Amino acid sequence: MSVESYRTSGSVSSFSIPSREQLLALEIEPAALEEFDIVSFNSRDLRSRPFNLLRTQVLKAMREKKWRLLGVTSATPEAGKSFMSANLAVAMAQLPDVRVCLFDLDLRRGSLAEKFAVSGDHGLTQFLDGSTDELRDVGRYLSNLHLTLYPCYTSRVNSAELLAGERFAKLVEAMRALPDDVIVICDLPPAFANDDAMTIIQRLDAYMFVIEEGMTTKTELRDAMNLLSPAPCLGTVLNRYSAGPLDAYGAYGKYDHYYGQ
Ligand SMILES: Nc1ncnc2c1ncn2[C@@H]1O[C@H](COP(=O)(O)OP(=O)(O)OP(=O)(O)O)[C@@H](O)[C@H]1O
Ligand SMILES: [Mg+2]
Repeated sequence: MSVESYRTSGSVSSFSIPSREQLLALEIEPAALEEFDIVSFNSRDLRSRPFNLLRTQVLKAMREKKWRLLGVTSATPEAGKSFMSANLAVAMAQLPDVRVCLFDLDLRRGSLAEKFAVSGDHGLTQFLDGSTDELRDVGRYLSNLHLTLYPCYTSRVNSAELLAGERFAKLVEAMRALPDDVIVICDLPPAFANDDAMTIIQRLDAYMFVIEEGMTTKTELRDAMNLLSPAPCLGTVLNRYSAGPLDAYGAYGKYDHYYGQ
């Protein structure tokens, strides 16, 4: 990859997403990842198989539509959005022809910094509130995972105001200016929590919806999708499904998923 950063064109207040070489590089211990249920980095681990299947289906659908910016949401909290975003991003990043940037846009309850054991003074919140203009201080290149992470450190913020602001619009513009082989995955809050998921998703290409087995109801799914309309839904993932098609291969049941249009 070139050491150039990728600038959005136009006004002085445009930003650029740094290249990997411009970011602090970290190596994350596999044991630390497993502690937070991130298992998709090791294709010899049976638990990575559902994520490998998911990445193939997601990439196929995104390439067909020429989509590159994907949000991950659910109806209600703790359905497994961050679990799914992290494992999908890591699984995709293992492919030689894809680069992945994972953004934690759950500004009120960001969790990816903890899951990937990264820390810093500046997260996406500080970028969006103008405390820093430097995305280089925010992003981390997780070198053994081949993944770039833009974490957000949980703080009491007026997230709706930040996401409605020009800086967020410019950030998405910068994501769109990334080279064609870069996929952007954004971990989001639940659709019913506040306006945040709706505001963000309107600017992305599409979203993936996480359904929690036995918890998410049909009414919640329908109401959430109505709320997010007209943004396109790439598909749904059934999380914590224990009788999936991969059982025959001995996959770890709780990571099984069903994915469909
Ligand atoms: N299929 C699964 N197998 C094992 N653990 C899981 C699974 N799905 C989620 N978890 C775990 O459950 C917890 C909640 O999941 P996660 O943080 O991904 O939910 P979330 O939807 O992002 O929640 P929030 O709405 O608070 O952002 C985490 O500890 C996560 O690792
Ligand atoms: Mg989450």
